Amino acid sequence: MSSISYLNGTFLPTHEARVSPLDRGFIFGDGIYEVIPVYGGKLFRLDEHLKRLDDNLVAVKIKQPLTHKEWKAVLNEIVLRNQPAHGDEQSIYLQVTRGVAERGHGFPDSHIEPTLFIMSSALKPLAASIAEQGVAAITHDDIRWRNCHIKSTSLLGNVLLRQQAYDEDAVEAILIRDGEVTEGAASNLFALIDDVLITPPKGPLLLPGITRDLVLELAQQHKIPSCEAFITPQQLINAKEIWLTSSTKEILPVTMLDGAAVGNGKPGDVWQQMRQHYQAYKKQLRGQS
Ligand code: PDD
Repeated sequence: MSSISYLNGTFLPTHEARVSPLDRGFIFGDGIYEVIPVYGGKLFRLDEHLKRLDDNLVAVKIKQPLTHKEWKAVLNEIVLRNQPAHGDEQSIYLQVTRGVAERGHGFPDSHIEPTLFIMSSALKPLAASIAEQGVAAITHDDIRWRNCHIKSTSLLGNVLLRQQAYDEDAVEAILIRDGEVTEGAASNLFALIDDVLITPPKGPLLLPGITRDLVLELAQQHKIPSCEAFITPQQLINAKEIWLTSSTKEILPVTMLDGAAVGNGKPGDVWQQMRQHYQAYKKQLRGQS
């Protein structure tokens, strides 16, 4: 069954979607994206994702092509149209680029319309082996630019870092810049240090993750001591637990870091607790009409 996408006002089979090679997204990676999970047919934290999209479009001076009401209508339609192919649990990818223009680094002189593309893929549940064993990660110098709070489609740094992790039989690269741990190549980071759950503060060196915010909220609600603070590589090595969070992977427990065990080498107790809170939150969302 073919998946359905949305391109500039039209719903169509994904394999039929065509964008000009002069699109600035293709030529320069001049665009912004979002990834929104869908549980029980409902878009997860949609207002928060749309708010981040607004902030990003303003940051890179691309015109917001739709109102929030229009976004909600078209995103819900994509979810519905992809239910036959992907069911109720989906991952929605949306991208807005500056549009099509003759190649030139500066913004085009003449008026152009942004290109808007949305697609769906099936969202896979966490493998049982991950809950039992956790995942491996490596640490790496953060080779990306200094505007990592912008969810830009220019992802070459992230791509190379993630591949480096794969090449070393790990699932993620945890990044270090100027003596501080920042985030993963496509995830935010939490560490349990002296029984406090710590995540690096928001700023230009990391993406303000929607999952990160929810994990902090859930920690507060359930009285798990938590704070936003800088983490040094040495603190990371000594952390009892390390987690990676993202919309598609939720909360991954890291049990091996650069080939050495994290804590006792198993997904930790606090991760188990947080996982249950997160699943309960999702269940509540699924039940909402
Ligand atoms: N990536 N940091 C980076 C660099 C990311 O690319 C992501 C997500 C996150 C987590 O953000 P959120 O919780 O809002 O998903 C942090 C997405 C999933 C991706 O690129 O596919």
